[in-house]
Amino acid sequence: MVRVIRAFLPLLEKSSVPAIVNVSSALSLTRELIRGGSPTNLFPGIGYPASKAALNVITVQYAKAFPGIRINAVGPGFTATDLNGNTGTQSVREGAEVIVRMAQIGPRGPSGGFFDRRGSIAW
Ligand SMILES: NC(=O)c1ccc[n+]([C@@H]2O[C@H](COP(=O)([O-])OP(=O)(O)OC[C@H]3O[C@@H](n4cnc5c(N)ncnc54)[C@H](OP(=O)(O)O)[C@@H]3O)[C@@H](O)[C@H]2O)c1
Repeated sequence: MVRVIRAFLPLLEKSSVPAIVNVSSALSLTRELIRGGSPTNLFPGIGYPASKAALNVITVQYAKAFPGIRINAVGPGFTATDLNGNTGTQSVREGAEVIVRMAQIGPRGPSGGFFDRRGSIAW
């Protein structure tokens, strides 16, 4: 992800409305992983949540370093795709909504945050 961001920085710096949307996951949120009763709490894996948690850190660090670019992480929600054998409970159209919205956030929009379909989510 760092390599991709670095590769695109020269182009982003030429844009009047530069934005980066890092596709993270609710599984990245430590508080959800430990919260009893949360669907996230039931996920047994290590690599996937850890990689998304790293992506969250990359998001906030780049957002601080490049205040002229809107840089956010999003959680699309449990979406029916190849990733989960199409067991996700929402459509790709629904999952993509927050990604597209944050890509179009505009120069006065938030940066360094985590968002899902409902809006801003605490880290
Ligand atoms: N589905 C969910 O419920 C869910 C929930 C939260 C977050 N997400 C996140 O949403 C994003 C998209 O996931 P998805 O559900 O759409 O998964 P997906 O259906 O498995 O699609 C993953 C896509 O990534 C491509 N890809 C994988 N490794 C790659 C690589 N090394 N270089 C370039 N492209 C690569 C795949 O290309 P090929 O088709 O060519 O293999 C595929 O197009 C992921 O970041 C995932 O972690 C998904």
